[in-house]
Amino acid sequence: MAPTSSHVVALTIMLSAVLFASTTTAQIPAPAKGMSWTFYKSSCPKLESIITKRLKEVFKKDIGQAAGLLRLHFHDCFVEGCDGSVLLTGSAGGPSAEQGSPPNLSLRKEAFRIIDDLRARVHKECGRVVSCSDIVALAARDSVVLSGGPKYQVALGRRDGTTLVTQDTTLANLPPPFATTGTILSSLATKNLNPTDAVALSGAHTIGISHCSSFTDRLYPNQDPSMDQTFAKNLKATCPQAATTDNIVDIRSPNVFDNKYYVDLMNRQGLFTSDQDLYTDSRTRGIVTSFAINQTLFFEKFVVAMIKMGQISVLTGKQGEIRANCSVTNSAKVQTSSFLEEAVEEAVELLAGMR
Ligand code: HEM
Ligand SMILES: *[C@@H]1O[C@H](CO)[C@@H](O)[C@H](O)[C@H]1NC(C)=O
Ligand SMILES: *[C@@H]1O[C@H](CO)[C@@H](O)[C@H](O)[C@H]1NC(C)=O
Ligand SMILES: *[C@@H]1O[C@H](CO)[C@@H](O)[C@H](O)[C@H]1NC(C)=O
Repeated sequence: MAPTSSHVVALTIMLSAVLFASTTTAQIPAPAKGMSWTFYKSSCPKLESIITKRLKEVFKKDIGQAAGLLRLHFHDCFVEGCDGSVLLTGSAGGPSAEQGSPPNLSLRKEAFRIIDDLRARVHKECGRVVSCSDIVALAARDSVVLSGGPKYQVALGRRDGTTLVTQDTTLANLPPPFATTGTILSSLATKNLNPTDAVALSGAHTIGISHCSSFTDRLYPNQDPSMDQTFAKNLKATCPQAATTDNIVDIRSPNVFDNKYYVDLMNRQGLFTSDQDLYTDSRTRGIVTSFAINQTLFFEKFVVAMIKMGQISVLTGKQGEIRANCSVTNSAKVQTSSFLEEAVEEAVELLAGMR
């Protein structure tokens, strides 16, 4: 029997996936200057266990919070580096921003509360030595692990930034869901993330939710031809018109971190253009396929990409500060909190500097 064209296509896909898998080996990136795997070993040895223990309790009540925390780390790192600026009240996308509208990025309000609760627990045990940005990075890691994803070490030693992020900076740094692969690849390249990183990081969309407004452009007025019919029908049922914004759909296996996202892309059931186009575009199609058929490979590449993302433009050493409250910079806090408490803190810092 002569091979049909679909045989040939299937074979090509398998071959490219196998070649991709065999020519790359996972290389864990080294910590950036000023960071280390054991940064808090003596100053806060219980840091990771405090966070993991608390998040287990949080996720037992609502595993959906894992997706919110993972996304928070992404937004923190992509906009002016992983410096906790996303946490600041007044930053675009920050705790006070309105939900549901693209510029404000619909980060979960609860994610901000969880981070400051973790911060309070950690500082109670160790004093003000651990940065909010490190807590966000650890919470993102635990979100992945506790949802069934790969375990990995987080390089630590980030310091918190002292400047608010504007909406313009945020929009310029976070690619929109209607971006095609070309835009995604060039956007991520500016952050030293390669196509494999781009495909692996997008796999974070294995968990969580999305508002209709993030993808109704693919349904109305015309349905995106790259979208599976049944999938489109179901999305239309939840989002009956172009103007539906508040309704929410689950990203496919919403509570389990696995490689189903890539299987969905092969079945033309990716939610955003930025997802589906990774399978349409020849530059990334083989990578998608290789992750769809090999979850171990996806996990390996995801870990590498997360460690790279977690070190984008970090502040270390004497840069930045260790925030006493993740939603406000320490100098802003002077105006809002007890004047005496601040005066004492400043005196202590002054004395330490004189020694
Ligand atoms: C590559 C470009 C990316 C684009 C265009 C993108 C876009 C989006 C959009 C539009 C949503 C839905 C927001 C809503 O309507 O509620 C979303 C959700 C999400 N994203 Fe991304 N994203 C990208 C990369 C990432 C990365 C790198 C991560 C993490 C490593 C990530 C993690 C998440 C998670 C976990 C959710 C679900 C959030 C929740 O359930 O609260 N995304 N993303
Ligand atoms: C985003 O949030 C800001 C501040 O919270 C608000 O002033 C602005 O109107 C929001 N933008 C949109 C498009 O909803
Ligand atoms: C899947 O990927 C892992 C990690 O790269 C590799 O060791 C393994 O051989 C791959 N499995 C298959 C069936 O290709
Ligand atoms: C942190 O700062 C925010 C904003 O000023 C405030 O609403 C919140 O109560 C503070 N949290 C703590 C624990 O002091």
